[in-house]
Amino acid sequence: MLKVVVCVSGGGTNLQHIIDGVADGTIRNTKITAVISNNEGAYALTRAEKAGIPGVVLSPKDYPDRAAFNEALLDKLEELSPDLIVLAGYLVRIPEAVVAAFPKKIINIHPSLIPSFCGKGYYGLKVHEAALARGVKVTGATVHYVDEDVDHGEIILQKAVNVQKGDTPEILQKRVMEQAEWIILPKAIDMIATGEI
Ligand code: GRF
Repeated sequence: MLKVVVCVSGGGTNLQHIIDGVADGTIRNTKITAVISNNEGAYALTRAEKAGIPGVVLSPKDYPDRAAFNEALLDKLEELSPDLIVLAGYLVRIPEAVVAAFPKKIINIHPSLIPSFCGKGYYGLKVHEAALARGVKVTGATVHYVDEDVDHGEIILQKAVNVQKGDTPEILQKRVMEQAEWIILPKAIDMIATGEI
């Protein structure tokens, strides 16, 4: 059984699709053992509670400095000892010590086709604003391993999504989530849980 900890910051729609995938069997051999959020108001924590999954709030605001937060995050993850850490809209930079403690055991969903529109400053709607500003006809989402750099680790899965005439960042974000993110993140977890990768 793959023990998974999911890290979130916002609405948790990606988390919800992981919860649903485990429940309906499309994600095999997997148990979500905890959800960690830096944001106590994240609706993702409500989704976890409704699914009976323990929620943990660890916010940098509650620590004297970033080093103290990083240590607390590492301690919590080592206590939970997951087989896989899934970043599902987690807006906190993963400390190098966590990457080192969980080599090739951390994956992230990014709402573009990496290497486009990724790296420092590219998150949430900003990604789709940049894609629309550049005028790309195709965008999408990427699941990748997390390494010491931002949005830089080995790519696991990608799925393309067409940009349509009249798209706003919000409309495009919704299409990328529905047609790509919510499909490839559960798929990647299932692939890891079944030993396919
Ligand atoms: C989405 O914009 C997704 O593209 C990115 O972070 C956000 C997470 O949304 N990974 P949600 O919290 O999963 O709904």
